[in-house]
Amino acid sequence: MDRNAITSLAETFQGVRDTTVRLCATLSAEDTVVQSMPDTSPTKWHLAHITWFFERFVLEEFVPDYRRYNDDYHFLFNSYYFTVGQMHARPRRGLLSRPTYDEVITYRDHVDSAVRELIGQRDDQTVAERIMLGLNHEQQHQELLLTDIKHVLSCNPLSPAMNVDLAVPASASASAYSYTDGRSGIRPIGAHGMGFCFDNETPRHDALLHPHQIGDRLVSNAEYREFIAAGGYTDTRLWLSDGWSVINERGWSRPLYWSEDLQSEFTLGGMRDIDEHAPVCHVSFYEADAFARWAGARLPTEFEWEDAAAETATDGNLMESEYWQPVAAAESRQFFGDVWEWTSSSYSPYPGFTPLAGSLGEYNGKFMCNQMSVRGGSCVTAADHIRASYRSFFYPDARWQFLGIRLAKDSAA
Ligand SMILES: [Fe+2]
Repeated sequence: MDRNAITSLAETFQGVRDTTVRLCATLSAEDTVVQSMPDTSPTKWHLAHITWFFERFVLEEFVPDYRRYNDDYHFLFNSYYFTVGQMHARPRRGLLSRPTYDEVITYRDHVDSAVRELIGQRDDQTVAERIMLGLNHEQQHQELLLTDIKHVLSCNPLSPAMNVDLAVPASASASAYSYTDGRSGIRPIGAHGMGFCFDNETPRHDALLHPHQIGDRLVSNAEYREFIAAGGYTDTRLWLSDGWSVINERGWSRPLYWSEDLQSEFTLGGMRDIDEHAPVCHVSFYEADAFARWAGARLPTEFEWEDAAAETATDGNLMESEYWQPVAAAESRQFFGDVWEWTSSSYSPYPGFTPLAGSLGEYNGKFMCNQMSVRGGSCVTAADHIRASYRSFFYPDARWQFLGIRLAKDSAA
């Protein structure tokens, strides 16, 4: 690595690390401790865990005389890497009133200065690639931090805003829902080898796409209201069996965060009127699938989605827009940003998939069961963290992430 590359890595490192702390600026110390359900983690835990990741997988592996900051932190802030040791139970992360927020920030500062020192001393590619993995991991947690605190604050009867000054996007009208023919035949899928990618995006391989059409925008709140008004949640014919069970057991009749009268919703800026032209958000795979069936369509496969999105610029309503809420389509086809889009594809390994070597093999591969692939990033995904080949994944009943719907259709061969 030359001097410029080292300087650039050091700047990127500090930039991502600082962004995470800046996201917390409007939170109180009390806000950062709460865990509202097992799926969500407290803000303070996120801050500590992403620091632990650098300590365990960068400093402990590449700095021979590095001494662990605190052995207890290794137990508290390991998420799911059993090959490096046991960890505190995930559903009990909200019980960690200690270490305090300030102690976690001190831990971060300690690890940051050690990583900066490493960047200055070791200029080899292996170290740089591991740091880039740590930064991409941190960006994933920036998104989780925002989605998790939204859920935490939504559980408070006072409906507090994370940030009362969050900008309200200008209103735009969604056009009538239309479709574009997708390419069919054998198409290349997966990361193309230029720039960072996660192991689950590899290897690049051929997939067979049948003749199809893919929607030109995301499904809007107005369209979802029509589905509700048409009795969508009470018509068993529209639902997968598992989905029918879930909506009945949990009493779901509208997207998460919508008020009972379907007129307002909880956002990171507090309660707001629902913008009928904005993409519907916080729906499960089951709801997305039922909506698509009601609309005479289906969800795209993740391969149809990737092939359509591959030639689209990765700009859109992402974290840096600072709306932190989906916005109505103007010109864009909305492939990137706004909401992660449910696909009909199960999150499975690509042909020839090999997880990362060693403990980091636990990062993605072991979750390839019973989850669905989602694509495109959301309004709280960092702009330099998304690409057409990026695969995220959630259980089909998940709703707390920014998750929405694009439609697709089979077409005649
Ligand atoms: Fe993590």
